[in-house]
Amino acid sequence: MLSPRSLVSSPTPQGLADHQAAQPALAELLELSDQGTLVVDDTLRALHINAAMCGLLGVAASDALTLAELDAQLGQRLPAHEPRRKPLQRLIYQLEKEGAAGWTTLRLVQPQLHIIQIKGQRMSNGHMAVFGRDVTQAEELDRRRHEFLSTAAHEIRSPLASVFGYAELLLKRSMAPAKQKELLGIIHRQSSLLVSLINELLDLSRIEARRGLDFNRQRCSLAALVDQSLDGWFMVGDPRTVKVLARHDDVSAWVDPDKTRQALVNLLSNAYKYSPQGGDIEMETLTKSLNDRLWAGICVRDFGMGMTTAQTERMFEKFYRANPSGPIPGTGLGMSLVKEITELQDGHVQVVSKPGVGTAVTLWFPARQDDAKT
Ligand SMILES: Nc1ncnc2c1ncn2[C@@H]1O[C@H](COP(=O)(O)OP(=O)(O)OP(=O)(O)O)[C@@H](O)[C@H]1O
Ligand SMILES: [Mg+2]
Repeated sequence: MLSPRSLVSSPTPQGLADHQAAQPALAELLELSDQGTLVVDDTLRALHINAAMCGLLGVAASDALTLAELDAQLGQRLPAHEPRRKPLQRLIYQLEKEGAAGWTTLRLVQPQLHIIQIKGQRMSNGHMAVFGRDVTQAEELDRRRHEFLSTAAHEIRSPLASVFGYAELLLKRSMAPAKQKELLGIIHRQSSLLVSLINELLDLSRIEARRGLDFNRQRCSLAALVDQSLDGWFMVGDPRTVKVLARHDDVSAWVDPDKTRQALVNLLSNAYKYSPQGGDIEMETLTKSLNDRLWAGICVRDFGMGMTTAQTERMFEKFYRANPSGPIPGTGLGMSLVKEITELQDGHVQVVSKPGVGTAVTLWFPARQDDAKT
């Protein structure tokens, strides 16, 4: 078993009592710290390794004896093509040469992806301290942000390129009025797609940044939420009206009525868009009891094209479209917005869908049974 003895430098005589009291506390502190710490002597033997470092390196405290052994274990977790196979010994080598070694990032791929960083510092007693931290989450967030930006730029560029191209054609070439109208129609469609894309992106980033702090939550009856979402609702060129099957006015949820309406209107728009061959569009309120708690659901159902299980699993991804080059316009952001709005209000979204049969999406919120209205 490794001891924390070597962690504290030699005490002066007058500070001995304080020093003795501080030593176990310091060792305990290091043990509790979530920063990985490893102390190595000049024979490259590990004198102390705290629990956080054991977790980062994937070793048990009692295993860790020499840096070579630690490196051997780490080496098994590195990708096969990684040339730097002895990261800890390299770090110490750099420390000996330069006195300090800044953060080095290691991508460990076994048994699953873990991105860790290590750095080293020489101690006054000649030992060397190695610090470690887990940056998997931060790196993953960074990767997602990068992916999001490049997808967003790509999604904006395609319609913008066609607006630009057709506008240039109209400016430079003379053509029959009918042809002009056709091109203007394309420009109009593409720019309206751009406007909704930018609006949804702004909505989404505002909601994500504020984390619901600007939500104006209040007690709303399910009936009022259904009525508000249908108030003034219509789909251009589609004569269908929504069939309301049930609308509890004696059950309420603690939500922002405007934001919840925005989520429901997104569901309605999808129900219409993805049932182009027709069929009823239904809206219904539901209740269920789960873990001794009452939940209220607002369901929007269509009998349209539906989705496979794989498509359903991906429908909340930003920019995901099950049939991207199909004729139905959309940006693939609507359901991300729905999910964000629902979850920030302590709810969850349930989707049941089957190809060729239809789709039912339900927003569930914690609810309260009110006195029945007369
Ligand atoms: N009711 C539905 N029936 C079948 N497929 C659906 C339904 N709702 C969503 N989808 C699929 O999930 C994808 C993502 O939906 P989402 O609402 O996020 O984007 P969108 O409708 O394409 O664009 P918009 O951002 O304009 O809403 C859709 O492109 C569609 O393929
Ligand atoms: Mg949509």
